[in-house]
Amino acid sequence: MSLKSIKFGFIGAGNMAQALGKGLLAKVGLISCKSDNSVQSRPSESLPPGLVAPEQLLAAAPERLLAADPENGTLEIWRKWGANTTNSNIDVLESCDVVILAVKPGLFPAAVSYEGIKVKCKLIISVMSGVTIEALEKEFCLHAQVPVVRVMPNTCATVGAGCAVFSRGKNVTNEQCDIVKALFESVGICKEVPESQINAYCGLTGSGPAYIYTIIEALSDGGVKMGIDRGSATRFAAQLVSGAAKMVLDTGRHPASLRDDVCSPGGTTITAVHELEKGNLRSTLMSAVEAAANKANQQGK
Ligand SMILES: NC(=O)c1ccc[n+]([C@@H]2O[C@H](COP(=O)([O-])OP(=O)(O)OC[C@H]3O[C@@H](n4cnc5c(N)ncnc54)[C@H](OP(=O)(O)O)[C@@H]3O)[C@@H](O)[C@H]2O)c1
Repeated sequence: MSLKSIKFGFIGAGNMAQALGKGLLAKVGLISCKSDNSVQSRPSESLPPGLVAPEQLLAAAPERLLAADPENGTLEIWRKWGANTTNSNIDVLESCDVVILAVKPGLFPAAVSYEGIKVKCKLIISVMSGVTIEALEKEFCLHAQVPVVRVMPNTCATVGAGCAVFSRGKNVTNEQCDIVKALFESVGICKEVPESQINAYCGLTGSGPAYIYTIIEALSDGGVKMGIDRGSATRFAAQLVSGAAKMVLDTGRHPASLRDDVCSPGGTTITAVHELEKGNLRSTLMSAVEAAANKANQQGK
């Protein structure tokens, strides 16, 4: 099935759904999204062909969101992108081919439990952390035996640099997995893993952007302390993290070996690395991944 013929629905149209929608639509070349969620036209000839067109997307938000601030509500952002919107989750379940579930885990299954609806979709993709395939299948088998896929994405999808892993439920075909891969590879990297590893990835890459933002902020603080202006310190700290990550990805070398290369005997860098060790940086980051993974395990129970 070609992605260009699929109608994608979003139940829960907030941060994660918008990251995915934005990533997909920015690839289309019709819009460019700025950090304040405003959009501007881009000449389509200057961009690579995208995976989906705005009219292939249908985003749902509860009516109360519209009533609260109709001009600037969640759905207004989608409308500015040219996507279709509704305040009925039933519309999404009854009219879309592939439905992306992106409400908070505590709102499942209430956000999709409606008596007597005619679920049309052929695939449910859940990005809800901690909600298991078993729980998803229990809900969707009630309706129409809809196959389910559980994905753990991250918000870096917004800038096309996301990390996503997924696990398939019963009766999910290889062709449907290709749709999931194409969807998430359009906004980063994606691979299939056993469900037993999903919460570990939640701790590593789902929550991970927050760890790295904290590190960038702290590096920037260090720069400011040593006399660099804030704007330059943050920009250079962010480029530093991006560059070091590219070294790891492009060379395939172990990070410790790359670190060795920049630690000359008795030099500045090994002196700084000693400070990191005294502050337990590595142990703290390992504990952060563990704590987030354990939290995701608890949420699934
Ligand atoms: N953000 C991340 O970095 C990240 C990473 C990995 C996984 N996830 C997963 O992605 C999911 C969404 O997270 P998020 O950060 O995007 O949350 P979010 O920004 O709060 O988005 C969820 C949206 O769903 C709306 N909503 C509430 N009840 C609804 C209903 N009954 N039907 C339809 N929409 C409803 C919310 O409206 P209100 O604001 O009015 O409640 C909100 O706009 C979560 O399950 C999370 O575990 C997120």
